[in-house]
Amino acid sequence: PCEGLYPFQWNWDSGFIALGWGLLDVERAKMEIRSLLLGQWQNGFLPHIVFHNEAETYFPGPDVWDVGRSRFAPEKKTSGITQPPVLGFVVEFLYDRHGDALMDFIAEVFPALYAWHAYLYTHRDLHNEGLVYICHNWEAGTDNTPVWDAIWEGMDSPSYDLNRRDTQHVDAANRPSNREYEHYIHLVELFKSWDYEDAKIGANSPFLIQDPLFNALLMRSNEGLIRLGKLLGLEAEVARLEQWQERSLKHFHKKLYSPLNKAYVYYDLRNERRLEAVSSSSFVPLFAGIPSPSIAREMVVHHFEKGRFSGPRDEYYLCASFDPTSEAFDPGRYWRGPVWVNLNWLLYHGLRRYGFGALAENVR
Ligand code: DGY
Repeated sequence: PCEGLYPFQWNWDSGFIALGWGLLDVERAKMEIRSLLLGQWQNGFLPHIVFHNEAETYFPGPDVWDVGRSRFAPEKKTSGITQPPVLGFVVEFLYDRHGDALMDFIAEVFPALYAWHAYLYTHRDLHNEGLVYICHNWEAGTDNTPVWDAIWEGMDSPSYDLNRRDTQHVDAANRPSNREYEHYIHLVELFKSWDYEDAKIGANSPFLIQDPLFNALLMRSNEGLIRLGKLLGLEAEVARLEQWQERSLKHFHKKLYSPLNKAYVYYDLRNERRLEAVSSSSFVPLFAGIPSPSIAREMVVHHFEKGRFSGPRDEYYLCASFDPTSEAFDPGRYWRGPVWVNLNWLLYHGLRRYGFGALAENVR
């Protein structure tokens, strides 16, 4: 995604990058996705980083992750956690642009994408409710959102000799604190001590969250794979995807919509509580068609037309990554305030899906 700071392939970044390449050079889009899939584990898990290159500019590198401890790890060097599953809808967007010329490629990658979703629904849906968990803040993508502050407070991570490189590339004021990094690395050390076994992680990880962003993107990717699977005539896979989708739809709103905040929020499975905070993730369910039209209207009116996210354009743009009226809002520290264009692309499409055309244009 970025020279120096991010010198490898990051799972969801690669999805968005493939979308960009889809407009410029579709062969590069295919290469981006194929290369990422080389990092897939034998159980379908798709890691958040594929170390496709040698580079010394990033911490934690492959030696820290040490994923060879897992019986499922591939030959390729990778991290041991995943990231929001965007490839299902990315490939669908590429299909919409390139049509049948892309069918061979879709047939080639479909099994890997299906296996990833199967992994998530099989190993990460603890209560069989179609809502998969994430076990690390880096799995969320929203690395340092203030939502996690409550989790870190409950964790007594040891101190580590951190070999941070990120702050050599960008201003430390834009990055997480050292204490936050100690929690991030502590989680990695725990997963390593459990040889990356899902059952142990599910039973013991102090970070165990049902994330509205991750789950909404999984559902939007299910939608893409259902459509493409039908084109490929893969009846059994389509039927399974439809079952997962139905289960997710049944529980998503009930569990993750906060009437208090009039927005979707995160659920902390380890402590059985909602994490009541509004962030850009809160609105991504629009992208997957999850809220009813009336709930969508409630969210949009409450937050964008007259509420917390609706400040004058020169103050904050739609959509800040975190609630601009919160004490935790920080306009400089990436997921604590600043806009991420990719997230807003999701929001743009979500608003259009529900007929909020003018607002979508504003975001665009
Ligand atoms: C980082 O190192 O900041 C990455 O976002 C982790 O995935």
